[in-house]
Amino acid sequence: PFKNLKDGFLSVTPPEEGIDAAGFNINEGKSTVSITVVGASGDLAKKKIFPALFALYYEGCLPEHFTIFGYARSKMTDAELRNMVSRTLTCRIDKRENCDEKMEQFLKRCFYLSGQYDSQENFADLDRKLKEHEAGRVSNRLFYLSVPPNIFIDAVRCASLSASSANGWTRVIVEKPFGRDSDSSAALTRALKQYLDEDQIFRIDHYLGKELVENLSVLRFSNLIFEPLWSRQYIRNVQLIFSEDFGTEGRGGYFDNYGIIRDIMQNHLLQILALFAMETPVSLDAEDIRNEKVKVLRSMRPLQLEDVAIAQYKSHTRGGVTYPAYKDDKAVPKDSLTPTFAAAAFFIDNARWDGVPFLMKAGKALHNRRTEIRVQFRHVPGNLYKRNIGTDLDLATNELVIRVQPDEAIYLKINNKVPGLGMRLDRSNLNLLYSARYSKEIPDAYERLLLDAIEGERRLFIRSDELDAAWSLFTPVLKELEEKKIVPEYYPYGSRGPVGAHYLAARYKVRWG
Ligand code: NDP
Ligand code: BG6
Repeated sequence: PFKNLKDGFLSVTPPEEGIDAAGFNINEGKSTVSITVVGASGDLAKKKIFPALFALYYEGCLPEHFTIFGYARSKMTDAELRNMVSRTLTCRIDKRENCDEKMEQFLKRCFYLSGQYDSQENFADLDRKLKEHEAGRVSNRLFYLSVPPNIFIDAVRCASLSASSANGWTRVIVEKPFGRDSDSSAALTRALKQYLDEDQIFRIDHYLGKELVENLSVLRFSNLIFEPLWSRQYIRNVQLIFSEDFGTEGRGGYFDNYGIIRDIMQNHLLQILALFAMETPVSLDAEDIRNEKVKVLRSMRPLQLEDVAIAQYKSHTRGGVTYPAYKDDKAVPKDSLTPTFAAAAFFIDNARWDGVPFLMKAGKALHNRRTEIRVQFRHVPGNLYKRNIGTDLDLATNELVIRVQPDEAIYLKINNKVPGLGMRLDRSNLNLLYSARYSKEIPDAYERLLLDAIEGERRLFIRSDELDAAWSLFTPVLKELEEKKIVPEYYPYGSRGPVGAHYLAARYKVRWG
């Protein structure tokens, strides 16, 4: 029952009654959780972390005793932090009853300390402040590293040496990017492990907290009709599509060092692929699921240069409005070759998926915003209705679409008789549109992930061997692209993307959905 015994509770006397399966002390009078947002003055903290913490508080998901500390170099008082945070709490919760009152109560639990990320003394000050609030209870401490990656190690060193809990657990959420390639990622892991056990490290990939990504396993493993079809026998190809209708404005400095392959494919899309393609795990335990994800990642062929198409957006004028080129961003070098769009074809060399192309496509500044998984099924052998379908048989195969965002939905394209006296078929959708089926709003991914980190649930976080396997698929091709200075194709801001993505798909007889 004590799943997380290793995690902090090791250092205290054996758990007593009142410790739940996640190792959490439900005897609230005795324990407290302190959440420190390192980099609290930043964009992610304002946009996502504080609103998610408030939503959890509003829903009654935070423990009775909790404190939130913002920590960053910027000078701010508690009141200024509260003021800053309150402006970002215009989340979905806002519309509901008692929101103002709840917000006030929440803000009273938020404090701020200004300090350097590499100063043990400053973190010792934080430790003292945390202790004041913990008031002698068992203290569990969560640090959320919401800072640029070059600061991760300093912050972890100082937090672990000067501010880790003396009698409860200490956990650290680390934001991406986890390195730029296999070597830098391994170096980051080694450095983190100087100060933390793997069990204390929660590497976040917020796509794993998205409702429809979590639902993938439910869809596959709790519906009889899907799993038998989930293989090369019935599936022609799988497409993982990410598109955004805005560019890298404001994040050009970060983006130019990474590019779309590292920003979206190596993590968000690959994680979805792993969940989609893994074998049935032994159980729903975090380690069983992560073992299966690692297995499938290790069965994949590293990406080859000929299986990649890259592109970058250029300026475009539409309706009198001029949209900027990627390179118009002041933080981006004028000769940058960094891709803002990429398409790639992957193969999984195992019995289930041999020969099935898994195509990924990710791009910024495209014509729409969507993230989808599209599963195209094979043709019906000896189809009796071939003649009634029309000339393009490919268009008449079944397709399952899992729309992760926006307008979350799962729909299946089937062939259907058009009502009437004739015998003409068309393709219609069996459609599960979430907004029509479920009235409750879908929580933000960060809410689920923060709650899981507090409860010690690691299922949705990335283990280090998973990360190694993910990087080994991309590192050789990223090096080759950079060493050979491959010039990206250019596509206009707001377009459907470059033609290269279609050529790549056509090599494998795939048409993008
Ligand atoms: P910011 O650039 O806003 O940085 C956060 C804080 O870190 C800043 O407010 C600043 O605080 C401090 N900081 C920034 N640059 C430096 C520097 N060069 N040296 C020392 N301190 C610095 O980052 P975000 O909030 O956008 O992102 C935080 C983390 O989350 C990053 O790792 C990012 O890659 C990741 N991420 C961000 C997303 C987003 O949407 N923003 C999405 C997904 C991941 P101060 O000066 O007060 O110390
Ligand atoms: C982040 C990327 O991880 O995900 C951003 O760094 C991207 O470039 C973002 O915009 C997309 O997240 P979401 O949840 O808005 O789809």
